[in-house]
Amino acid sequence: MPAWTEGTRKDPKPCREQDRGKFEVTQRDGRARLGKLHTEHGILETPALLPVVNPNIRTIEPRVMWDKYGIGALITNSYIIWKHDDLKVEAQQNGVHSLLNFPGVVMTDSGTFQSYMYGDVEVGVEEIVTFQKSIGVDIATMLDVFSRPDMTEKEVEEAVHETVNRATVSVEASGETMLNGPIQGGVFRKLRQLSAQLMSEHDFSVHPIGGIVPVMEQQRYKDYAKIMMAALPNLPPNRPVHMFGCGHPMLFPMSIALGADLFDSAAYALFARDGRLLTPWGTERIDDLVDWPMLMPCVAMLSPADVRSMPAMEKEKCLAHYNLEVTLAELARCKQAVRDGKIWQLAEQRSHQHPALREAFLWLSTRPAISGNYRRDLFYNDREAAKDLQGDRGMWEDSWDWVVWNQQTPRVGGIQWSGDDTFVRPHIQKARRAIHTRWTTREETKHTFIFHGIRGPFRDRLLDQFIWLQHHIPAVQTLMLTPLGLIPIALEDVNPFAHVNAPEWVLDHRPDDLWIKRELERLGIGEVPYACVDARGDGIKARMEQALERLNLPINMLHMPIDNEDRKAADATLNLHQAIEKMMVMLNMDRAAAETIAQGASYVANRQGRVKNVLDSNGIHILSPRLRDGGLSLTNTGATHIFNQRKEPLPNTIPIPEWNGTSGNGPAIVVVEPDAEPYVRQGRNVFHGFVTACDRWILPGESCLIVNQQGHLLGHGISQCNADEIRAFTKGIAIKTRGGLLEKE
Ligand code: GUN
Repeated sequence: MPAWTEGTRKDPKPCREQDRGKFEVTQRDGRARLGKLHTEHGILETPALLPVVNPNIRTIEPRVMWDKYGIGALITNSYIIWKHDDLKVEAQQNGVHSLLNFPGVVMTDSGTFQSYMYGDVEVGVEEIVTFQKSIGVDIATMLDVFSRPDMTEKEVEEAVHETVNRATVSVEASGETMLNGPIQGGVFRKLRQLSAQLMSEHDFSVHPIGGIVPVMEQQRYKDYAKIMMAALPNLPPNRPVHMFGCGHPMLFPMSIALGADLFDSAAYALFARDGRLLTPWGTERIDDLVDWPMLMPCVAMLSPADVRSMPAMEKEKCLAHYNLEVTLAELARCKQAVRDGKIWQLAEQRSHQHPALREAFLWLSTRPAISGNYRRDLFYNDREAAKDLQGDRGMWEDSWDWVVWNQQTPRVGGIQWSGDDTFVRPHIQKARRAIHTRWTTREETKHTFIFHGIRGPFRDRLLDQFIWLQHHIPAVQTLMLTPLGLIPIALEDVNPFAHVNAPEWVLDHRPDDLWIKRELERLGIGEVPYACVDARGDGIKARMEQALERLNLPINMLHMPIDNEDRKAADATLNLHQAIEKMMVMLNMDRAAAETIAQGASYVANRQGRVKNVLDSNGIHILSPRLRDGGLSLTNTGATHIFNQRKEPLPNTIPIPEWNGTSGNGPAIVVVEPDAEPYVRQGRNVFHGFVTACDRWILPGESCLIVNQQGHLLGHGISQCNADEIRAFTKGIAIKTRGGLLEKE
């Protein structure tokens, strides 16, 4: 057993005065984020679980939570403290941290949940916030109006407006104390959206999503997902999102993948009282068990039978520890998945654990309007989908765009195939959309050749064929059919398309012509005649002959040898196409601008013949295709050339982002404050608060150019955020600078 004794963990250090109340994101995976919330009682790392502590019944002592489990924050109920004179007096005299014996972040709730459970509460709106402030809580909660899922739309609307009406007085009463502004709206998406929009206008620090306890209790996980998708895109991104009353680990991966930052759990204690165990896949009764579903440290030397035979209080305590350990372990797993860029994959895996969770997951990822963008047409129930889309068609699609366009691509590492779910992972959809909206074929294209049936690296396997086609039929557009879609060969080494770890038959699969036609249409070459060539095994020449015949091209060419000079020339042309087309897809450039930059380019290749560096017509290094993910790295000279191609005026505001409407305008520009200029020039990162303007198409994970207010290029980097985030955040890194231009450059 790891040694721990009470008092071994040091008390937290307060955050810096100027940071109090600020939230920063340190890492992200699409909408999922790891962050830091700066408070007087420490910097809370998110996603975080706040165990619910009832000051009258402490199943696990708060100090034990701090010392043994490293828990940084908990939540308790200020209404209970306010109602009990003994607690109230002590809290007002010594503060809530002393009352609970907890040195970390203390959040309090306001009594709203009590009013939902037991009817009206006696406390006033201003009074309860003032009280929370008086006992020194770190994050207080206003008295919101609970919206139940069984309420009519009218009743919920009233709850939303009444909550908003109480916001001003609550924010004023909270003074310097951070305040929760709960989002209500029941199961009505428009009301959730409205609530998020109206509550955003007030100076809250955190936005809990309220009214979801009955939704979770009834296992209406699809409604839970809808509530998140309606509310979250409408909240200021610099305020953490708390899922009120969500403490079941089963819901963590999906919630975090959609942007949740905080959870609170009474479940660990309530389920223990009932003899139930939490697991990432559901709930189990201790009475039914011979072995533990997960062997956790607190029961390492005990069997379920041992625990069953304990006195009632001891058993409850043991199970509460067990539940807390399981919950924390799943949270840790989610955090690591965010770091690894695999949170969606984890949500996908967990979705198989419960039918309602599976339904929620399928609703999110495979509705027709979404999967129409991929070859699997309908995973999600057709009739249900039609109902979802009734009325305000398009709203969910906007929310899904918000998920997809914020995914970072290309990513390092292969795609782990796990059945049909693989194809609708949002980062794969983002990679596909980037190609579909930014790539165009060459003007001379008259035929398309589609190779299929093999796994990457495609160039290594098919170089002779690519060169042959390029030499003999310069008007051909060669494409690779991958399990994730059709891609131009210039992008053959780009992730996720290039590295799919799947059984042979997935790679072999040759979808029907209808789907190929739809893919060609998405690429803007639906009208161009095409022929498919199975690239597996021997006899590829014969199959190419058949393809040439199908396209009415002379087949005798196939037997003509290509001399060394011609081979080199064709190879150089393929390299040129690659540089141009990668600039289009990864740097959002139109073909003409990319062609101008690549004019007269030369290449430095590695031993395998892959281009390492692209040099401009003066022999200066401008771009490096990256081997690890197929992306493109810019040099300072490359950034300067691209900046010189810019036709749009420089941005002068931080606009509302526009998903999908970005093709061809070049990498996004960020304009920085004069104070930041010397740092950027030295290659240092751009911090939030120093950006004064940017393009609306700036996206996390994409290259951007950094300029000063006079419009001079200072450097280039990788954006960590979209325009909404640039506008909202005041702490953390906005742009990771990759190159700074010193004054003389
Ligand atoms: N705890 C669980 N749900 C809610 C809610 O909607 N509002 C408040 N204030 N607390 C809650």
